[in-house]
Amino acid sequence: MSGRPFFWQDPGGKMQQGNTRGDAGTCEGVDLASLARREGTPLYVYSAAAIRGRLRALQAALAGLDAGVCYAVKANSNGAVLRLMAEEGAGADIVSGGELWRSLRAGIPAGRIVFSGVGKSAAEIVQALEAGVARFNIESRAELELLEAIASARGQVAHAAVRINPDVDALTHAKISTGKSENKFGVSIAEARAWFAQADRWPSVRLDGLHMHIGSQILSLEPVRQALQRMAGFWRELEAAGHAIASIDVGGGLGVRYREGERPIEADAYVAEIRQALDGFRGRILLEPGRYLVAEAGLLLSRVLLEKEGEARRFLVLDAAMNDLLRPSLYDAWHDLVPLGDAAERPPVAYDVVGPVCETGDTFATGRTMPRCEAGDLVAILGAGAYGASMASTYNSRPLAAEVLVDGARYAVVRRRQTLDEMIAGEPSAATWQTP
Ligand code: LLP
Repeated sequence: MSGRPFFWQDPGGKMQQGNTRGDAGTCEGVDLASLARREGTPLYVYSAAAIRGRLRALQAALAGLDAGVCYAVKANSNGAVLRLMAEEGAGADIVSGGELWRSLRAGIPAGRIVFSGVGKSAAEIVQALEAGVARFNIESRAELELLEAIASARGQVAHAAVRINPDVDALTHAKISTGKSENKFGVSIAEARAWFAQADRWPSVRLDGLHMHIGSQILSLEPVRQALQRMAGFWRELEAAGHAIASIDVGGGLGVRYREGERPIEADAYVAEIRQALDGFRGRILLEPGRYLVAEAGLLLSRVLLEKEGEARRFLVLDAAMNDLLRPSLYDAWHDLVPLGDAAERPPVAYDVVGPVCETGDTFATGRTMPRCEAGDLVAILGAGAYGASMASTYNSRPLAAEVLVDGARYAVVRRRQTLDEMIAGEPSAATWQTP
């Protein structure tokens, strides 16, 4: 089997980092088999160069615009990844007090943080006002009232954007589509119009921004164009009515190549749409990519536990499972599975590739043709840098996997493998009963 790129290809199609050629496969200059031996499996491996490469490409595409990248922390909230974003000048798009805390700890300045999400608690709003986040993306009238009440009680003025729901089909998986009117996110343009018209009802909220996010893993430019046009039309209407708009946040959603044949939108083409739609806009433009920056920069390294010949199918049982990487179980998502080392040379067979968790849904791939594997072989699950570790759980009492960040020829453990004691931390050995 010929070498397969691990991470990403530049716009000219040139492979930038990592390959599975040779004995075992490498991530940057680090040998994956040695990593697995030293740190155990399942093991998340991230390439710092790949993450920097993606961020810099996007920043370069934005050159000349008053624009900033607010990394969507939910995609991969590991502190080392966040520190990398901070060093490269990115801000953060957060959706919880926990993500705010992580971002600040990682050195992302509050002034570069935007707070999104359909249900912010009062405590989280207080936390964000205390920190001094740049902007709240508001998704309902109830939330606007709550922000007003809290900001006013604190004697602060909160900067806010309305999250518009442009009613556009992002042509992606239904569970990650967010910009249609039946989705819980944002408000209609009609509703937003009413808010701007009555803005003096909320004197402690400066409503001077627009926001949208129509979905994730978007591979087609058409819905992006449509949504941008709707938002731009509304911005022009607001300006004409005398409402100054200081910021427009176009959300995240840029898709990546999980599977051969998928053609992600290129950063330049994406930004060209933004430039065109927002031509003449004098405020700040924000982008909230998550997956685009980290998905292809990460893989989940797992070891084959055993091969099992079933009545109807042939199973390959890995030591990684749905608790480590949920995407295939939750969205039927495709991830390339690459056996490393000698395995890559063996004749192909069709496997159902599964984990040890006690659910039929604990399946990474069904009927996947790949080289014959044996117990002890390493299999790299590609495209695992986004929504992998950040969605992991300890289901079946499987401790959280370790994570490493590779940078050149070195690596650092950026999350220790969870110990059993850590897994049950907070559970007392015997219940202490209380009455409320
Ligand atoms: N901004 C907002 C308000 C969001 O809700 C999201 C993602 C993003 C930005 C970043 O989107 P991205 O650039 O990563 O597409 N767990 C799913 C993806 C859920 C995305 C949720 N929102 C998956 O594994 O495919």
